[in-house]
Amino acid sequence: MQRWTDSRIAELPRTHFIEALKLVEWEGYWCMPPIVKAAVALQNNFEARNDDVFLASCAKTGTTWLKSLAFCIMQRQNHQIVDALTLENPHFLVPTVEAVAYSDKTIDIFDASAARLLHTHLPHALVPDSVRSTLCKIIYIARNPKDTVVSSWHFFNSFLRRDEELFPFEKFIDCFCSGKHPYGPFLEHVMGYWEESKKNPKKILFLKYEELKIDPKTQVLKIAEFLERPFEDDTKADEILSRCSIERLKNFEVNKSGSHFVDTPNSSFFRKGEVGDWNNYLTSEMEMKIDNTICLKLRDLGLYF
Ligand code: A3P
Repeated sequence: MQRWTDSRIAELPRTHFIEALKLVEWEGYWCMPPIVKAAVALQNNFEARNDDVFLASCAKTGTTWLKSLAFCIMQRQNHQIVDALTLENPHFLVPTVEAVAYSDKTIDIFDASAARLLHTHLPHALVPDSVRSTLCKIIYIARNPKDTVVSSWHFFNSFLRRDEELFPFEKFIDCFCSGKHPYGPFLEHVMGYWEESKKNPKKILFLKYEELKIDPKTQVLKIAEFLERPFEDDTKADEILSRCSIERLKNFEVNKSGSHFVDTPNSSFFRKGEVGDWNNYLTSEMEMKIDNTICLKLRDLGLYF
């Protein structure tokens, strides 16, 4: 892997997402420049262990929920640790490797003295080589693109001051459809993990937010099986689901008033948590645009949401 200096990153094609956010195109994906730098450092320095677990997602597809569930599934024998969810935001408990610099606490993701539970928004092609080449497992969560874009719009609006105007929704949809959004294009992001999960289902578990909502218990049992930590007693799965419900998590003080990532209130990660909220926002023109640029292609791959 070549060295990526600031000046090389500065030469990459660039765009502005919602005016304020600078993105550069790196290896076919749009990321903020510090994220490219962090991802390159990971490529050079991160050594995955066979027993590490990586969660992966494009943004706003259910990452926070998956982090909470996977954390509880893996730590369920240790009640004290599981209770950490009452005091810490899931993004602290399961760090996003390329974004640790944005954390309000020092997090050492390189300490490989024990197996790690980590997360990345990076596309499959850009995760550190050792994550692909070792036996470490990956769980990807995908979501209907229409709900994803609506969720994303709310997320970015939550950074605005009360007197500021909301980001123009139509422009936001255009960015999403053109793929010029953080970690975009969404389509390629989903496709990359989907194709790999079909080639190697023991290595990558591909989940859908919608399936987690419809039949959460089956999905939680599936995650535990995949991680080779099956439940001895199915009622434990129900307990974990109620521990990780959006209603419970959003009401903890740390998630009402705290902030884990710089300038990002923890509350912005918990909104409605519903399937189909897009019906309240998209015009038929917007819907058609997302169908034509993303949904039809996902359907060609056998991916229905
Ligand atoms: P909405 O904006 O549609 O409500 P991410 O975690 O990838 O940033 O995704 C955020 C979305 O997941 C938001 O969707 C948020 O409300 C939802 N979410 C967060 N925690 C959840 C939970 N415990 N259960 C279900 N959905 C959750």
